Parts: sequence; C-alpha cells; structure tokens
Amino acid sequence: MLIKELILKSDDRVLVLGSTGFIGSRLIPELSQRNIKLRLFVRNPSKLSALIQKNADIEVVIGDLVKGEGLRDALHGIHSAYYLVHSLGGKSIFKNTEFAEMDKRAAKNFIAAANAEGLKRVIYLGGLGEMGKNLSEHLKSRAEVAEILSSGKPYPTILRAAVIIGAGGASFEMLRYLVERLFIMLCPKWIDTRIQPIAVRDVLAYLAGCLLNPETAGKRFDIGGPEILTYREMMDQYADARGIARRIIFRVPVLTPRLVAYLVDLVTPVPSGIAHPLIEGLKNEVVCLDHSIDQFVPIVKTPFKEAVKIAVSEEKEGPGIAGF
Ligand SMILES: NC(=O)c1ccc[n+]([C@@H]2O[C@H](COP(=O)([O-])OP(=O)(O)OC[C@H]3O[C@@H](n4cnc5c(N)ncnc54)[C@H](OP(=O)(O)O)[C@@H]3O)[C@@H](O)[C@H]2O)c1
Repeated sequence: MLIKELILKSDDRVLVLGSTGFIGSRLIPELSQRNIKLRLFVRNPSKLSALIQKNADIEVVIGDLVKGEGLRDALHGIHSAYYLVHSLGGKSIFKNTEFAEMDKRAAKNFIAAANAEGLKRVIYLGGLGEMGKNLSEHLKSRAEVAEILSSGKPYPTILRAAVIIGAGGASFEMLRYLVERLFIMLCPKWIDTRIQPIAVRDVLAYLAGCLLNPETAGKRFDIGGPEILTYREMMDQYADARGIARRIIFRVPVLTPRLVAYLVDLVTPVPSGIAHPLIEGLKNEVVCLDHSIDQFVPIVKTPFKEAVKIAVSEEKEGPGIAGF
C-alpha cells in the first residue's frame, strides 16, 4: 500500500550525502533539472563551486558523517535523502582496513539523526555481491551499510550495482588506464569472473526514478547494464570501443591483490588505498540476481561499448584527468 507521505511534493527538499563524489556530483544537475529542491551535505564546500548551477534551489550544510557533525541541521525538514558515501581512500594501502569501521559509524550516525528528524525515505547505492560467498571486505561493508540504513524509521531503497562506467569513477579509471597503458597484462584468475557493468547515466536515471516513484520505498533492487561480461571481455570491449588493439592477457596462478594494487598505483591515477579493496572484490561475481527494477523504473539500458565511448568523450584531454 502506498503511503501518501512518501510522495515527493514540489516544496519538499532532498538531501544528497556524498554530493562531491563521482555519483553525487552528477546527481545534482540530474535532480536540479527536474526542479527538485536540494540540500548538499559536504565536508569541504570549496569542492562544490563548479557543481552548483545558477538559479538552482540548493542549500549547503557542512559536516562529517563519521564524526557525526552537522547531521541534525542537514536533515532538519528534509523529505528524502540520497546516501552516496563511502570512506575508501587514502593514499596508503596500510590504512585500508579502517574504511569498514568508518562506514559503519557513518551509517549509524546518519540513521540516528534521520530517526530524530523524521526523514521519510533514504536511497542508497551500494554494491552487488552475495554474502557468504567469500565476499571481499569492501563488498561486505557495502552490504553492512545497507543493513544499517534499513534498520531505521525512514523507508530505505537499496540499489546494488557493479562497476559504473563513467569518467572519474575509481573502478572505471582503473580499467581505462590499464587498457590504455599496458599492451601485455598478467592477471590472476579473477580475470574470468563475471560482472554486469552499468553506464553512469543509467545509474542516475535509476536514482532519480526511485525518488519519483514512491512505490520503490522499502525495496531492494539490483541494477546493471544489458551485458554480463568477464573482466577479460570487458577489457577487450573497452579496446574495441576505443578502436585500439586488444591487449594480450596472460592468466597466472598467483598474484596477490596487494601486488596488483601497487601496480595499479603505478600505472593509473587511482591510489593503492582505494585500488586494494576494489581489487580484492574482483574475485566475487557481481551480476544482477533480481530484475524487478524494470517494473518500477523502466529505462533503455546503455550498451557497454556505448558507455565507454561516452565516458572517454567526457574529458577532452583524454586519460589523465581523473580527480583522485
Ligand atoms: N564508483 C563505482 O563504480 C560504484 C559502483 C557501485 C556502487 N558504487 C556506490 O556508489 C556510492 C558512491 O560512490 P562514488 O563512486 O560516488 O564514491 P566517491 O566518488 O568516492 O565519493 C564518496 C563521497 O563520500 C563523501 N564522504 C566520504 N566520507 C565522508 C564523511 N565522513 N562525511 C561526509 N561525506 C563523506 C566524499 O566526500 P569528500 O569529497 O569530502 O571526500 C564523497 O563526496 C557508494 O556507496 C559506492 O559504494 C559506486
């Protein structure tokens, strides 16, 4: 049964957490174009200047989720919130065990403030991958955040995605730079793991569509592109889309995620502190098990090669511009 309160009205305001990130920064114009009033929760407002268009009704609140600062002010009077946050990062591979604890604390702080301020809906974008299947720390942590966000009073909408294809996404930039820069690659067995990548414009369409369709409240959806590929096929198709020779890939029996992360650090702009948790997750199959999103937010899915062409064309200067 549809609860009337969940319908977004024209004077309702929507909070975006993670608005300076890869997904959040793209969601701002997507929602502003639909005349949705926004409030952005940021740690560092100087990152926002290029993101806020003139005439858009956008408020900004400064705070920090992990420290629990600014959350009550940010959530006051808000109808729905997007939770597009994670704590991966740092230039050091040795610090990457801390992210799960920080993300847990951040989600708990958020849900406590959301309960107190009467938030009606929270929409979270997390990762695909099934618990109990030797899931990586990063994917386990994404699932844990989904659980915490689902434990409060706001109705949760949980979207789960694999690699998102768009300029500036950490996983996409790893793919881009590896294929652009290395003609021969040695890869462990994860090179033949299956994955269902999705174009960033499709992710944005799902995020906006879920907000505008209150029937998605209280539900969990897997979202993916039209193709299921292996990482090897993804690299081949990236090369095809770019009109360059396919790379020679040798599968080797042992190559630890840590070693691969150091190589990625050398060859790509993605620091090993971000790369390591993501690389650890390459062993896990990440494909959609549920397709019910098609009933609620029907879209025409972007094929992988088209998504790559769009991502590459976004930066005139070509590879080398990612904002890490
Ligand atoms: N990128 C992908 O391929 C992909 C694939 C599947 C799912 N997802 C999911 O999509 C969501 C967004 O990912 P993304 O790629 O956009 O990440 P991102 O570019 O790294 O952005 C993360 C955002 O979180 C903010 N943040 C981190 N810690 C914070 C804190 N303590 N307080 C307030 N804000 C904080 C960051 O702010 P600062 O600018 O201050 O650092 C930034 O805006 C995540 O849940 C991720 O798991 C992403």
